[in-house]
Amino acid sequence: MKNPVRILSGIQPSGILHIGNYFGMMRPAIALQEEGEALYFIADYHALTSLRDPIALRENSRRVALDFLACGLNPDKAALFLQSEVPQVTELAWILSTVTPVSRLELAHSYKDKVARGAAAAAGLFIYPVLMAADILIYDSDIVPVGKDQKQHIEITRDIAARINETFGSAGKAVLKLPEPRIQAQTEVVPGIDGQKMSKSYGNTIDIFGDEKETRKRVMSIVTDSTPVEAPKNPDVSTIVQLYALVASKDEVEKMREQFRKGGRGYGDFKKQLFEKLWDYFAPMRKRRDEILRDKNYINDVLGRGAGRANGIAHEVMKRVRGAVGL
Ligand code: ADP
Ligand code: TRP
Repeated sequence: MKNPVRILSGIQPSGILHIGNYFGMMRPAIALQEEGEALYFIADYHALTSLRDPIALRENSRRVALDFLACGLNPDKAALFLQSEVPQVTELAWILSTVTPVSRLELAHSYKDKVARGAAAAAGLFIYPVLMAADILIYDSDIVPVGKDQKQHIEITRDIAARINETFGSAGKAVLKLPEPRIQAQTEVVPGIDGQKMSKSYGNTIDIFGDEKETRKRVMSIVTDSTPVEAPKNPDVSTIVQLYALVASKDEVEKMREQFRKGGRGYGDFKKQLFEKLWDYFAPMRKRRDEILRDKNYINDVLGRGAGRANGIAHEVMKRVRGAVGL
């Protein structure tokens, strides 16, 4: 019998999840749980590169688990676990680092961007992609659903795996499996309220589970140009239309686009319409979230079961790697 495809992804618990995370990574990951053996983890080791508050790290990690489950992750299909519950991943990261050229890491955008925005140039931040490679390779992953900004990290992962295979593999027998990224074209980059990529580090997010008042306020503060109410507007460059397209049907989007072109309606009106749709879209997930919160042990149970499954796989792969490199 053919093995099922293994799908793996991770998300850092470095803040509150926003709709960019949802449409870019979580929704595709949740859809993929139907297509194979899915493993999703909360990247708490990675979050240490930016978060040095132990209480916040623990709270965020639980909250990410809660939000992911509320959004539809089914723990009977997909394993959900904390990265740090599989500590062998750091051992694999060490082994991978011994074949990773510094010059390859120097080209990584995410390191350069973070340091340019004032992050300390810590060695951990620099080798972040090596730990990420270990996350992926330790589970023999086939498919990695992520947003576009993570594409380069998957390329680095493939590169490192190929180097391990060249160095330690024997004829026809690879040590590590090369993964494929899965990036959703229509939601490659979800814009934030300022029109830039939505990101918690830019303060331009709309949170998935923000309260009603705050969410409305965020939507109403989407930046627009100063075209007057009566004048025609260009739907092709509008953040409002782009966000609306994530939550409305094709017909509804086409209607909004026509109204943009026709003129006679102001941006404020369109924003209200967007807010209503967005709020309705996430209503079932808010309901599910409240239910999960009522069951005190649910999240711990899910994370415990997930870690058990993940450790079983990681253990086997590490045996193979240790054997191949001579440990
Ligand atoms: P942030 O930029 O807010 O720090 P992360 O880097 O933690 O978000 O991203 C977690 C996941 O969500 C990644 O797979 C990333 O590609 C995806 N993602 C984040 N922001 C967006 C966005 N604006 N559009 C599409 N995907 C996104
Ligand atoms: N670097 C990813 C992010 O910031 C999180 C992550 C860590 C990840 N390890 C991973 C994603 C492995 C996919 C696979 O979003």
